[in-house]
Amino acid sequence: MVCLGNICRSPLAEGIARHKIKLRDLPWTVDSVGTSGWHQGEGPDKRSVKAAKDNHIDISNLRARQIQLDDLRIFDALITMDAQNYQDVKRLGPDLASDKLFMMTNFLYPNQNKPVPDPYYGDMDGFYEVFDLLDASVDAMIDYFLEEH
Ligand code: 4NP
Repeated sequence: MVCLGNICRSPLAEGIARHKIKLRDLPWTVDSVGTSGWHQGEGPDKRSVKAAKDNHIDISNLRARQIQLDDLRIFDALITMDAQNYQDVKRLGPDLASDKLFMMTNFLYPNQNKPVPDPYYGDMDGFYEVFDLLDASVDAMIDYFLEEH
């Protein structure tokens, strides 16, 4: 799961995905990263922690890190929150990323390239909206990987 800071959107995506993967007893691992290293080592934004907690998911122990080239080698899918994240991952490793780079909301709204909006400069409502969008997108993502790939 890839966003810019790895403190707002992608930790939520990671927490939601971990939760659903566990419920469905799937042998998948999930991690999250930022394209930037601005918040390296920090926990998630308090508002993301709250949005998750209010939905019975604990993300408080996650720590931000910047994406590395090895992530493009290790993981089978790289799922970005917006078009800038998508371009940044592609630029980091065009060959490595080519077959496994996705926009998160495209699992839910195919080919529309809708962003998961960056909630950082907004209020708590934006974080709940991001949670709901990720919750639905992650369900669609799991169905996609189970059904077709
Ligand atoms: P994220 O949100 O990419 O969802 O983690 C942001 C976090 C921090 C900043 C921007 C977006 N920032 O400018 O520090």
